[in-house]
Amino acid sequence: MKVRTHRCGELTKAAVGQTVVLNGWVHGRRDHGMVMFIDLRDRTGLTQVVFNAERNAAVHQASHALRSECVVSVTGQVMARPDESKNPNLPTGEIEIFVDAVEILNESKTPPFVIEDDAEITESIRLKYRYLDLRRPKMQRILTLRHNIMQAVRSFLNDERFLEVETPILTKSTPEGARDYLVPSRVNPGEFYALPQSPQLFKQVLMVSGVDRYYQIARCFRDEDLRNDRQPEFTQIDLEMSFVDRLDVMGLMEQMIVKVFREAGGVQLPAPFPRMTYAEAVGRYGSDKPDLRFDMPLHDVTAFAAASEFKVFKEAATKGGIVKALIVKGGAGTPRSRIDALGEMAKTFGAKGLAWLKITQEGQLESVIAKFLDAKAFAVALPDAKPGDLVLFGADKAAIVHDVLGRIRLSLGEELKLIDAKAWKPLWVTEFPLLDYSPEEKRYIFMHNPFAAPMDEDLAFLDSAPLKVRAKAYDMVLNGSEIGGGSIRNHRSDIQLRILDLLGINKEQAQAKFGFLLDALEYGAPPHGGIAFGLDRLIMLLGAVGSIRDVIAFPKTQRAQCPLTDAPSSVSADQLKELRIKLDLVE
Ligand code: AMO
Ligand code: AMP
Repeated sequence: MKVRTHRCGELTKAAVGQTVVLNGWVHGRRDHGMVMFIDLRDRTGLTQVVFNAERNAAVHQASHALRSECVVSVTGQVMARPDESKNPNLPTGEIEIFVDAVEILNESKTPPFVIEDDAEITESIRLKYRYLDLRRPKMQRILTLRHNIMQAVRSFLNDERFLEVETPILTKSTPEGARDYLVPSRVNPGEFYALPQSPQLFKQVLMVSGVDRYYQIARCFRDEDLRNDRQPEFTQIDLEMSFVDRLDVMGLMEQMIVKVFREAGGVQLPAPFPRMTYAEAVGRYGSDKPDLRFDMPLHDVTAFAAASEFKVFKEAATKGGIVKALIVKGGAGTPRSRIDALGEMAKTFGAKGLAWLKITQEGQLESVIAKFLDAKAFAVALPDAKPGDLVLFGADKAAIVHDVLGRIRLSLGEELKLIDAKAWKPLWVTEFPLLDYSPEEKRYIFMHNPFAAPMDEDLAFLDSAPLKVRAKAYDMVLNGSEIGGGSIRNHRSDIQLRILDLLGINKEQAQAKFGFLLDALEYGAPPHGGIAFGLDRLIMLLGAVGSIRDVIAFPKTQRAQCPLTDAPSSVSADQLKELRIKLDLVE
């Protein structure tokens, strides 16, 4: 094989006259009788190569054997293209190669789809033939972006004296809240490893070890229901630091993300990132990951509602619930059918209804519930609502109102094109509650993970009012997506045990689940904290990719399957026997 002198995407006018060798795949061909044009492709791009019968009859003859996706080595001379055949859309569009020798390095079967960005292919075919799918320029760009992001992360953390340390994949369950993937142990029959949901416990142990600053581009495994931004196996940029407080971690991480976006994606994020407490984010935007690319805040009208004659409002407002409003600017013309559809959507989100009113140009309230409302009091309660606007209301328990209106807000933002698609709106959300209460399980559950430290000023509430305790936890949010989350940890075992106790994990259970961490905390654990970013989500945002499956080389489908390898699959009876496992597949 003649070894290439250049890549397929790099020759320009400067090389005219040179003899070059290119290796690559036949992307497409156009037969013009005496002349055959072939686009040769590799990761870097395309070059047009020309087989001209007048220049070299044998080579021209040979070109007829070149089929799509066969692999070739061509030797030829770089020529300037005549003006009329220049291609301004291609970096190599000003030149072409006149071929003097061609060698077929390998044939290809006819591929099941054309290797082009806009080829219409179903996802199952793409994933089955992933090696062909990944040849498409868009996928090559994403793989390159992923690589560049990882390089920028490593270079930043290296400069900041972080050590990259690997932690085990075959390990014990880590309590991140999802279901574990289990791996049976052959040598310890009846016992199982759990694949880590994150390196959380190990990175804390590494702080006790004096590693000081740890990071890892770590694979995490969570057996949960999959969505467009969730995979059972995904990658975190995971790190932990000793002798730091919240602002140290947040400040450094902000610098890292700014650098990564600038160097890997050419995007300048507006810094410093705004900071918003959890209470503000949820209260104002109905979400702990607010999309700040458009405003449309939720307005509290509980006091107005309590004084109104509308039963739904009055009851919610006087029985411990709240009433909040969304203003759709200029929305008074919205047809009734559309408003009813929004009401149905609200119901699918868990609301009992979505009351509404229109404000006429004369300032009157127009609605089935208008007769129950005092227009003057309304104008005082919601001064931002103006003639010509539509107002939507949620009345219920606070959690339901926030969640429902938050989701209606996002849906309207998209529908009404309020979202500036070019904007980058990062923020930190801070002061998460340490605990939540699960009415189904009738117990406290953790909001972030069981190791987050309480805010110092809230320690006193641990006994008296646990739900009031805020954690030293922080999430980084970008354009409505949670890209990272972390916290300062409990480095003292007494407070850690107290929190585990609140979570219903007593000392013995704690010892069985993660006794090694609790033990380690007793041997001089430094104050420490950290964060983990969802690498796949960062790439989705920076690469403007809608599905997490497009940013992972070999992803799983929504059913957690891999169409390329056919995993998961059944195993032989012998393998099961060796593991002492009996299947019980009867429903
Ligand atoms: P957390 O569970 O918040 O924190 O995860 C951190 C980040 O990982 C991303 N992420 C996911 N990405 C793709 N698919 C998934 N299934 C998935 N789940 C989470 C999100 C999220 O912000 N150990 C703690 C971190 C710490 O406290 O330091 C942890 O794992 O972008
Ligand atoms: P009703 O009195 O049930 O006919 O409802 C009158 C209006 O109030 C309808 O538009 C309902 O969608 C709305 N509505 C009912 N319950 C709620 C609620 N909990 N929050 C907001 N709007 C509601």
